[in-house]
Amino acid sequence: MGNHLPEFRAAARRIDRRQFVTRAGAAAVLAFAANTPAAGAATARRLNPRAITENPFTLGVASGDPQPATALLWTRLAPEPYTADSGLPAERVEVEWEVAHDELFAVPVNSGTATAHPEFHHSVRVEVTGLSADRVYYYRFRVGAWISPVGRTRTAPLAGARITELKFATLSCQAYYHGYFTAYRHLAAEDLDVVVHLGDYLYEYAVTAVGGARNYTDRKLPSHYNSETITLEDYRLRYGLYKSDPDLMAAHAAHPFI
Ligand SMILES: [Fe+2]
Repeated sequence: MGNHLPEFRAAARRIDRRQFVTRAGAAAVLAFAANTPAAGAATARRLNPRAITENPFTLGVASGDPQPATALLWTRLAPEPYTADSGLPAERVEVEWEVAHDELFAVPVNSGTATAHPEFHHSVRVEVTGLSADRVYYYRFRVGAWISPVGRTRTAPLAGARITELKFATLSCQAYYHGYFTAYRHLAAEDLDVVVHLGDYLYEYAVTAVGGARNYTDRKLPSHYNSETITLEDYRLRYGLYKSDPDLMAAHAAHPFI
C-alpha cells in the first residue's frame, strides 16, 4: 500500500521506541488479563449511562483470538472519537454484552456485564467462554439506551479436528493517509473463518487535516493528528482515527481477527 521508503528509513531510529512499546504492551496485556486497572488505580466513580447523550459506539465492535470454546469481544465507548477523553468523564461505565446463535438474538447463548475503565480509554474487552468449536456466533453491547452494531465471530475448530478447509484473509500495512480502506469493505462481505492481521495496524506519521491522500472535502481532521504519535494519548487518538474508518469497522464486525 503505497511508498514505504520513508518508513523503512525511519525504522532504524524507531527501534528503541518499538522495543519500549513491546515491553509496555506486555504490561498492558497483563493488566487486561485481569480486566481491571492496577490495584488501587481504578476510578471509583461510576457514570450513570443516562449521562451518555451521544452514540458511544462510534468505533464499532470487534472480535479476536478465536479458540475452540472462547472468543474475545471488543468495543470502546467514544461519543466523540476524535477527542482525547472521547467525550466521557474519567469515570467507569458498566456495559452489557450479549452473545447469540442468530443476528436477531432470538437464541441467546451467553450474556454479562463488563466495565469500561477510563484508565483503558473506556475500551471493553470480554472473553466469552463455554462456546462450541467451529461455529458462528453474533454479539453486541449495550450501555443505557445505546446498542452497538451487531458483530459476527467464529470459534476455532477443536485441536486435531479433521477439517476440509479453512478460509482466511491476511491484512498488513494499513496507512490511513495513503487512501481509503475500500478492500476491507469487500473483505467484510467474504465468507471467511478468520482474518490474520500481520501489521502495521497504524502508522505514527502525521495525518493532515484532509486525511492525506483521502483528500477529504467534506470535513477536516483535528490538528492533533498532524504530528507524529509519541505519547499514550497520541496513540489512543490515532487508534481511534483508524477504528473510525467505516470499512475497517465493517471488516472487524464481520470476522474474528488474529
Ligand atoms: Fe508497513
